[in-house]
Amino acid sequence: MTTLEALSQLFSDKHLLTDADSLLHYGRDWSRVHQPDPLAIVFPESTEQVQALVKLANEHQFALVPSGGRTGLSGGAIASNQEVVVSFDRMNKVLEFNAIDRSVRCQPGVITAQLQQLAEDNDLFYPVDFASSGSSQIGGNIATNAGGIKVIGYGLTRNWVSGLTVVTGEGKILELNHGLFKNATGYDLRHLFIGSEGTLGFITEATMQLTKTPQNLTVMVLGVPDVSSLMKVFETFRNAINPTAFESFIQRTVDIVHQEKGLPKPFETDAPFYILLEFENDSEARENKVLETFEYCAEQGWVLDGVMSQSEQQARDLWRLREDISESINAFTPYKNDLSVRMSEIPAFLEQLEALVSARYPDFEVVWYGHIGDGNLHLNILKPADMPAEEFFKACATVNHEVFGLVKAMRGSISAEHGVGLIKRDYLNYSREEDEVAYMRAMKAVFDPNNVMNPGKMLTA
Ligand code: MLT
Ligand code: ZN
Repeated sequence: MTTLEALSQLFSDKHLLTDADSLLHYGRDWSRVHQPDPLAIVFPESTEQVQALVKLANEHQFALVPSGGRTGLSGGAIASNQEVVVSFDRMNKVLEFNAIDRSVRCQPGVITAQLQQLAEDNDLFYPVDFASSGSSQIGGNIATNAGGIKVIGYGLTRNWVSGLTVVTGEGKILELNHGLFKNATGYDLRHLFIGSEGTLGFITEATMQLTKTPQNLTVMVLGVPDVSSLMKVFETFRNAINPTAFESFIQRTVDIVHQEKGLPKPFETDAPFYILLEFENDSEARENKVLETFEYCAEQGWVLDGVMSQSEQQARDLWRLREDISESINAFTPYKNDLSVRMSEIPAFLEQLEALVSARYPDFEVVWYGHIGDGNLHLNILKPADMPAEEFFKACATVNHEVFGLVKAMRGSISAEHGVGLIKRDYLNYSREEDEVAYMRAMKAVFDPNNVMNPGKMLTA
């Protein structure tokens, strides 16, 4: 029996697609380095149907690739080797909201923005946020332990998952942690599945925690002269007001967003570096504290200019200076890096990184932006307009070992939040020791003995 014949035992024609458009659409994520080439796309509707599919894959030896909103940037959801893509578009229901537990039990295909809206409708808040929240799905967020723009204030997706139902790669259904806050009964397998990039099994249900709505979130954009001032401003504001976000970018990204999206510059003065910080402006005393802190930083020469939002609309517009960068630089076919070091190491790291990239990429333009408040820098190399993409990606990759060598020397991460997928897989050793990778492989073999779950992602097949 062929794989397609086996699949047609489980899925009607409507939920088993093989046409070229669907193969292209569902076979890839937002990265454009690998060519998609899936065999088929299936759309299960329940945990039991996912279980039946996994059992079928084990029996007939075919590979499965989980597919959420496909907004990933590391090729984790790419099917380039005749795999069967498992889309969660039909498993998109909110199953239960519990006001006492402040939790939402939902299927993995629920869109991030939908969860945020549901929280808001109930006077609560789901704090994990990023530019792709309008299309990314909760299952994918959990599978990649998504971070985003509020990690300094609220942590990663991991912090908000209190329960998971998974189907393991060998076809067992596990219900993990049951929405509990406290549970000291041994290994917490929930946390193993969070960030596992679909290599151990499928997430088929999740219980997500919500929190109280922050009051009057206010945004400040500051221009700063250099990296050491940037770090001083970080330390000073963090001690004074505990910001909910602390992001950074450079003049060139302001210019690109202005050019691509027509967004006005935040203020007249151009600055080498910018900070966007957000805080709960819930009392006059707090606002005064912010203004005092701003003045102190300006007196020290750490801040060149600044603006503070006076309305929700202005806060949203200022956020766009940071959130629209990724989409705006797509016009330049960027080669993306997602690096992290401890915050205290950022100045030394940036200095070495800048020296390296200007020496090794003299003809390429380099821009960076990132979640500086949690040590995460997005270093993007922009493709010269007249260079073919393949040649450009190849040229960029020649410097990977040196960039990742710097990361390793600082015991940082080669992928802070985008995941490993296909794109970072061959560099995993720069962030993980040999013994650790061996344990990771051993764990995969326990949950997925026949290697049907997203083979070749994160770990070589
Ligand atoms: C961001 O911080 O904007 C996202 O991680 C996407 C990107 O790095 O381009
Ligand atoms: Zn990011």
